[in-house]
Amino acid sequence: MLMNIKDVQQVSNAVMNMLHEEEIEIINDFHDAVLAKDIDKITELFEVVQFDVEDHFSTEEQMMEESKFFAMQIHKSEHDTMRGKLKKLQENWDAHKDPEAIKVFLEEEFKHWIILHISRWDSETAMAIGDNA
Ligand SMILES: [Fe+2]
Ligand SMILES: [Fe+2]
Repeated sequence: MLMNIKDVQQVSNAVMNMLHEEEIEIINDFHDAVLAKDIDKITELFEVVQFDVEDHFSTEEQMMEESKFFAMQIHKSEHDTMRGKLKKLQENWDAHKDPEAIKVFLEEEFKHWIILHISRWDSETAMAIGDNA
């Protein structure tokens, strides 16, 4: 298991908390497949991760747009940086099928990024947009 739902801060918006919970479950399944070096499963779950991350980020961006959140562009640019990293990582996976590269990314980068991103950007965004979903 890469991380526990308790590792991330609860924010004041139920939709965002649900998105975070789902994402952590999927990332944990992905991490399990990476540790097991199960090539087919990693390939399959990488698609699920990409779909889920896009759903997570674009839902937040849509909520920020609807509520005209003042720091939307900065929050979105953090998402875009992570979108770019995942795209590169997937291209690297398709070319080399190296589970170690994904393991290092998840354990040394993604985990810390998501914890910090939620406590810095998602929590502030949730406070600004409220919980009327
Ligand atoms: Fe989020
Ligand atoms: Fe976010």
